[in-house]
Amino acid sequence: MERKVVFSGVQPSGGLTIGNYVGAIKNWVDLQEEYDCYYCIVDLHAITVPQVPKDLRQNTLKVLAIYLASGMDSEKSTLFIQSHVRAHAELTWVLNSISYMGQLSRMTQFKEKAKRSEENLNAALFTYPVLMASDILLYQADLVPVGEDQKQHLELARDLAERFNNKYSETFKVPAPLIQKFGAKIMSLQNPEVKMSKSDTDENAYILILDKPDAIRRKIKRAVTDSIGEIKYNDDQLGVKNLMNIYSVFSGDSVETIENNYQGVGYGKFKEDLAEVIIEGLTPIQEKYDYFMKNKDYLEKIYKEGAEKANYAAMKTLRKVYKKVGFIQP
Ligand code: AMP
Ligand code: TRP
Repeated sequence: MERKVVFSGVQPSGGLTIGNYVGAIKNWVDLQEEYDCYYCIVDLHAITVPQVPKDLRQNTLKVLAIYLASGMDSEKSTLFIQSHVRAHAELTWVLNSISYMGQLSRMTQFKEKAKRSEENLNAALFTYPVLMASDILLYQADLVPVGEDQKQHLELARDLAERFNNKYSETFKVPAPLIQKFGAKIMSLQNPEVKMSKSDTDENAYILILDKPDAIRRKIKRAVTDSIGEIKYNDDQLGVKNLMNIYSVFSGDSVETIENNYQGVGYGKFKEDLAEVIIEGLTPIQEKYDYFMKNKDYLEKIYKEGAEKANYAAMKTLRKVYKKVGFIQP
């Protein structure tokens, strides 16, 4: 029996946060055992917001090193850089032709980003979800593990697959999202109503996978809580709830266990312990990361092999698509 296909990616824009780790990367590692996985570094997506070229190059390698350090294995999965496989941009053009402006303008992420840069809004930001659909559909992915914030984009990918299939005959597998129920969304440490994001202007709002112990202790200490003073998992204490989520995913303890262990204990002690739990979880990843970043030749070998494998699979789909829409074979 053929193994099911998994596709996912993150953008190489700045450092990755523990939100990316918990909501995405950590789960990808386990999926490798059961599925045929493609894990991409989506540099084409990254240029939908302004990038400094030399930083983009550096960040792309960093994400690859984080993938490897987190346990993604190039023997089991295909690890590659999006711009190395031309088919992503090419399929995007074709899918643009069946994408509705109305639907794209209702995408939450677009609306939010548009608000932030009204003056020179670029067209790529608008078609960002179409490129994401292309990523997924090229590999005939069955499952797409993402954080909750990407659900709407996935819905669009499904729509486009179905629309194309209806218009031109069965071509694409219709993908399903795979969203972790627990800890799917890690919130900002400064405002637990918004998601933790590396693009936050306040660096106390997020913890990076590569943050050093001192920074982690400082940021957790400053994390917003409340005046209730109890470690209880509920929606009246969103700050505490978020910290408990983080504690739980890094320690493996359930929230009930955490509630029991911290009965009558103040926030100060809880935060101290939480910082240590995070540090313990991140240190081995950081050590491996340093090792991979010192071995650029190895990274190059990984992404070149990845691109070759990915290209083979992607071209198979793209050829079918070109034929169905009526392009003459070159
Ligand atoms: P991005 O940073 O937007 O490229 O996101 C990469 C992956 O990380 C996506 O699957 C997101 O859903 C996930 N992700 C990003 N931020 C968070 C967060 N705060 N909590 C959970 N998952 C997240
Ligand atoms: N848009 C995703 C994000 O910001 C990243 C992404 C691009 C992606 N292409 C993808 C995720 C394909 C899953 C599948 O998180």
